[in-house]
Amino acid sequence: MIPISRPDVGPAEEQAVLDVLRSGMLAMGRRTAEFEERWAAYCGVRHAIMMSNGTVALEAILRALGIGPGDEVITVSFTFNATVSAILQVGARPVFVDVRSDDFCIDPDQVEGRITPRTRAILPVHLYGLMGDMDPLIEIAERHGLRIIEDAAQAHGATYRGRRAGQFGPAMFSLYATKNLMTGEGGFATTDDDDLAERLRLYRNHGMRERYHHDELGTNFKPTDLAAALGLAQLSRLDERTARRRRNAARLAEGLRDYLVPVVPEGREHVWHQYTMRFPGERQQVVDGLTERGIGTLIYYPVPVHRQDYLQRYLPGAADLDLPVTNHLADEVLSIPVRPNLTDDELTAVIAAVREVATPVSQASVSAAPAKTEGDR
Ligand SMILES: Cc1ncc(COP(=O)(O)O)c(C=O)c1O
Repeated sequence: MIPISRPDVGPAEEQAVLDVLRSGMLAMGRRTAEFEERWAAYCGVRHAIMMSNGTVALEAILRALGIGPGDEVITVSFTFNATVSAILQVGARPVFVDVRSDDFCIDPDQVEGRITPRTRAILPVHLYGLMGDMDPLIEIAERHGLRIIEDAAQAHGATYRGRRAGQFGPAMFSLYATKNLMTGEGGFATTDDDDLAERLRLYRNHGMRERYHHDELGTNFKPTDLAAALGLAQLSRLDERTARRRRNAARLAEGLRDYLVPVVPEGREHVWHQYTMRFPGERQQVVDGLTERGIGTLIYYPVPVHRQDYLQRYLPGAADLDLPVTNHLADEVLSIPVRPNLTDDELTAVIAAVREVATPVSQASVSAAPAKTEGDR
C-alpha cells in the first residue's frame, strides 16, 4: 500500500519530544516561545501565536478582530469545514463565493458582488498548498475597508509574488498530523499587528496577563511544549521536504501530462500539500482502480460546506446556492500521493496506476465543460 500521507518523523523528532518529557515541563513554555519566534521569522511576520489546533486559532483571530453577531465574512465553500465553522462559532455569518477551477481558490471576480454593509472580512483559503490570487482581493479589501484573513492551514511557505502566506493579513496555519509542518494537533495564528497579537495571546490563556488575574474573557487554546518541540524539529526540515514535494509534483505532472493535472499560475510557488487532479465522470472508477492497485487516494472534499447537513440549520437554503465550480470540483477532484517520503519506485507506481485506470483528457476537450478551466481568469 502507498498511503496518501505518512508523517515524516525520525530521530530528531523523537529526541526533541523525549527532551521535553525528561525536562518535567510539558505545558506551554520555552519550546512554544521558540517555535513561535521561528515560525514568525519563517513567514516574515512579527508574531506567531501557537494554539492547540488551527480551527481554534482561526476562531481566535475572528474574535480578536471583534467579528461576531451581525457581521458577515466572505469565504469559499470548497474547503475543509473548519474555515466556515470558525465563522459560525463567533456568531458571524459566512457568505459563500465560488472558486476558480484553475487554482481551486476564491474567485476574486465574485467577491465584490457579495459585499454588504455588514461585511467585515474576506477569508481566502490557500487550498492544497497554493495561494489564491491575492492582488485583486487586496484591492477590493482596501476599497471597502475590509480585513483579509488567510486560511493558510495547508500552505506553509507558499508564496504569491514573492510574499509568503501569512503576510497578507492575520493568518491561520494548521499543524495537524498530515500537514506539511505538523505537531500531531496544533495551529498558529500569525499577524504583524502588535495589539492583535496581544489579544490573541490573552484569549488563548484565560485572558490572563498575571497569574490568576483575568483581565479579559478568554479560554484555553494553549498548545503543549511536547507539540512545540516536535514542530521545531519538523521546521528545521520543512524546506527540504517542500523541495521533495515539488520534485514529486514535477514528476507526476510529467508522467500524467495528458490528464487534468493541477496548474501553478505565474507568480506563485506551490508547496504541494496535496496533488489534486480532476477526473470528470470517472472519479469513482479511478478511486476503485487505484485502491485495487494499492495506491492511497483521498477526496478533499466530497461535500462542499454549503451542502453540509448542519449548515442548513444556520443558513437555510444554503445547499441551493449557485456555486457551479465548487459543485463540479466536489464531484471531480481526487488527491494522489505527493508526500516527501515517497520513493522513486512508489512515484513510478502511482503514475503507472493512474495511467492504467484513468482516461487521458486533453485540456481542449475540457474547456467546453461547465466548470471554468485552466485558461479562465
Ligand atoms: C483548509 C483548512 N482549514 C482549516 C483547517 C483546520 O485546522 P486543524 O485541523 O488544525 O484544526 C484545516 C485542517 O485540517 C484545513 O485544511
